[in-house]
Amino acid sequence: MTAVLAISSGTIAAIVVIAIIDLFAIVFGLSFLRARRDQREREAAATAAALGRPVRKGPKPLSRREFFRRSLVASLLIYGAQFGGASLAFLWPNLRGGFGSVINAGKLEDINSFIRENREPFYSGTGRFYVVAYDGRPTDDVDYAAEQLTAQGIMPLYQRCVHLGCRVPFCRQSQWFECPCHGSKYNTAGEYKLGPAPRGLDRFRVEVTSTGDVLVDTAEVIIGPPRGTDTLRRPQAGPFCVATV
Ligand code: FES
Repeated sequence: MTAVLAISSGTIAAIVVIAIIDLFAIVFGLSFLRARRDQREREAAATAAALGRPVRKGPKPLSRREFFRRSLVASLLIYGAQFGGASLAFLWPNLRGGFGSVINAGKLEDINSFIRENREPFYSGTGRFYVVAYDGRPTDDVDYAAEQLTAQGIMPLYQRCVHLGCRVPFCRQSQWFECPCHGSKYNTAGEYKLGPAPRGLDRFRVEVTSTGDVLVDTAEVIIGPPRGTDTLRRPQAGPFCVATV
């Protein structure tokens, strides 16, 4: 299954184009050969008739008009197959290294430095997630470490607002995530704080390898913690960027 999903859309497109060209060459070649054969049979029949020999009955000869008609139909069929194949190739998910696969977000050290120096989460556009520094404590119901949602002091969060799906930016002033669409707010750990969102931000599993690479598995979205979860126990750091609705 993994091997099938790893085939890129470019490879699929190349296979489709080659197959279509081959098919066209075969159909066109067969039509041409048949037309040549019919032509020879007609000439042989005319010669036999002129010499008074019996004319051997063969299959009905293919007229020029019939040849062009068949070629036209074959071309239309091939064009349809080409269009369908190209559409399929375009829509084929390119999962290698993109959203929906395991993404290497970079070295832990670099990510931590970025977060420290910029006072904001590290963002991966390819993976559609943020990586936040996390030092919260588990509650009775929520333990991110047990679910492999945090590793070595970092935690990835899906960028998508759980209310209606807007991308949620991070507000440096408040140090919270604030959705510009309807004003939902989440703390640094992506836990629900304010607004119409039904829960905290969704998240992904993470692993830090022995070489320090941060691998985020975006193949499975882990549903965010319920409202009321607060493992950070930390208020907002300053004024909001988005007005509370
Ligand atoms: S989409 Fe974010 S609050 Fe509505």
